[in-house]
Amino acid sequence: MRHFLEVDDLSEVELRDVLDLSDPARAEPVLAGRGVALIFEKPSNRTRNSTEMAVVGLGGHPVTIRGEEIGLGERETVEDVTRALACYHAMIGARVFEHDKLEAMAKVDEVPIVNLLSDLSHPLQAVADLLTLKQRWGGLAGHSVAWIGDASNVARSLTLASSLCGVDVRLACPPGHELEPPVLDQARSRGIEVVVTPDPEEAAAGADAVCTDVWVSMGQEAEAAARQDAFGAYRVTAELMSRAAPGALFLHCLPAHRGLEVDTEVLDGPASVVWQEAENRMHAARGLLLWLAGQR
Ligand code: CP
Ligand code: NVA
Repeated sequence: MRHFLEVDDLSEVELRDVLDLSDPARAEPVLAGRGVALIFEKPSNRTRNSTEMAVVGLGGHPVTIRGEEIGLGERETVEDVTRALACYHAMIGARVFEHDKLEAMAKVDEVPIVNLLSDLSHPLQAVADLLTLKQRWGGLAGHSVAWIGDASNVARSLTLASSLCGVDVRLACPPGHELEPPVLDQARSRGIEVVVTPDPEEAAAGADAVCTDVWVSMGQEAEAAARQDAFGAYRVTAELMSRAAPGALFLHCLPAHRGLEVDTEVLDGPASVVWQEAENRMHAARGLLLWLAGQR
C-alpha cells in the first residue's frame, strides 16, 4: 500500500511518472463507482475544489468532510475514523493540523492516504508547482528556484520536490524561521545545490523562479504580530524580482496577501504564474491519484 504524506514518498522516477500522468489526456476512469473521502480540519479553497474535481476526472465520487463532523482523534480515534472511511472509499485525503495524524492514518494501511496539507508539508502543492515550472521551462533539471520568507510546509515540500527533479534551491528565511537542517541535508543528498541565506537579494539573484507563501500559516494566528515584524524585509517586490534571471517566474501557492509577502504589481504582473499554478493543483491531484490507483 502506497501513501503520499510527503513528496519524497515518491522516488525521482515515480515523481516524473506522476507529472506525466497529470496530463489531462492521460485521465482514465480508474475510480469509477468508487468514493474518495476528503477530510478538512482547516479551511481550503484550491485543495478542496481541485481534489474533488480530480476525483471526478477519474470517474470517482468525492465526499468532503469537515474536521468537526468526524472529530479526528476526539470523537473517535484517528485509526477508527480511517477504518470506517476505508469501508466506503478507495482512498482518503486529509488536511490536518498535526502531521502525525496522517502517519497514524497511513499505519492502518487499508487505503492510500494523501496529505492535503499538514503543519509539516504540502506535497500536492509541490507537485503542482513543479508541473507549472515544467510547462513554462520545457524541463526542470538545471534550473533554480528562490524561496523568500517563511520556511513553511510549502517551502519544505517544494525543496524536497525540487531535489527529486534536479532543480537548485536558494532559501532566504528570517532567523528562527529557516528549514530544519535534516531537510536541507536530504535535498543536498540528491545532488542539487541548496543555498541558505538570510538575504532575499542573495537568494533571488539569478534565480529562474521566485516563490513565497503567507507569513502566518493556518494554526499560527496567535503569532501573527510577531511574524509580521520578523518578515517585513521578506516581501517579494518588483525590485527583488529584478534581481532574478531575465524572464524569471513568480509562484505563490495562494491565498496571497497583497502588500505583505508579495506586492500587487508582482502578483498581478507578467512574471506571475499563480493562476496556472492554481489550475495545476487539479491536474497534479488527478495525476497523483491515477498513479496511486495503479499501485494496488
Ligand atoms: N494552496 C492551497 O492549498 O490553497 P487552499 O488552502 O485554498 O486549499
Ligand atoms: N503555509 C500555508 C499554506 C496555505 C495553502 C498554510 O499552511 O496555511
